[in-house]
Amino acid sequence: MLSPVITIDGPTASGKGTVAHRVAQALGWGVLDSGALYRLTALSVLQQAIDPEDIPAVARAGQQLEVSFHPKGVMLFGHEVSELIRQEHVGNLASRLAPNPALRQALLERQRAFRQPPGLVADGRDMGTIVFKDASLKIFLVADAQARAERRCKQLIEKGISANLDDLVADMRERDARDIERAVAPLLPASDAHVVDSSQLTVEQTVQNVLDLWSRVLPTPPAQA
Ligand code: DC
Repeated sequence: MLSPVITIDGPTASGKGTVAHRVAQALGWGVLDSGALYRLTALSVLQQAIDPEDIPAVARAGQQLEVSFHPKGVMLFGHEVSELIRQEHVGNLASRLAPNPALRQALLERQRAFRQPPGLVADGRDMGTIVFKDASLKIFLVADAQARAERRCKQLIEKGISANLDDLVADMRERDARDIERAVAPLLPASDAHVVDSSQLTVEQTVQNVLDLWSRVLPTPPAQA
């Protein structure tokens, strides 16, 4: 029997990564940050000076990624790149590469291989609609662009990176539009997804929300005779 999966999809900076990690921790499950695979492809494309418009070359870069995830970070071709892939220009390139159907296909099996016992929490854009269509629980996590830009701004400043709130709001809106309007695997909730709006919620409240939904999905043990 396949291990259970909880999918958490949503726009950039909706907090899905943090929520996915906390839910996985609470359940003792593994976690898949699928956006990291798109960011790693973007970084690899930059490092190899591949033309982002060259569809087969970009897909090959995705296929050939030598990547390993560790509790403390991500390694690409033997180098620690956790900070590098979080940079805004890498995220932006990832969003530009993401509509490439050959790249999405190349990353599909890599993502599905994360499904291991006792379970997986997968975060991204198309986890519930494409990669894990049979997931036991699907969450679509949203927050308004202003709230997301404020969170991202705070994170960047905490890391000592300068940030401008207005630029971040504009960037969020631009990236949302690109992710929603693309023809391949657009950012949309699965028909059976629960939409959770975290604009006014703390991380703890959002995590609790997901865990409550999960406890309702869990099969009820048969009554003792
Ligand atoms: O979640 P993130 O911001 O790290 O993702 C970076 C980009 O990767 C995002 O703008 C769109 C793309 N992506 C995708 O197309 N499908 C996914 N499952 C995850 C990310």
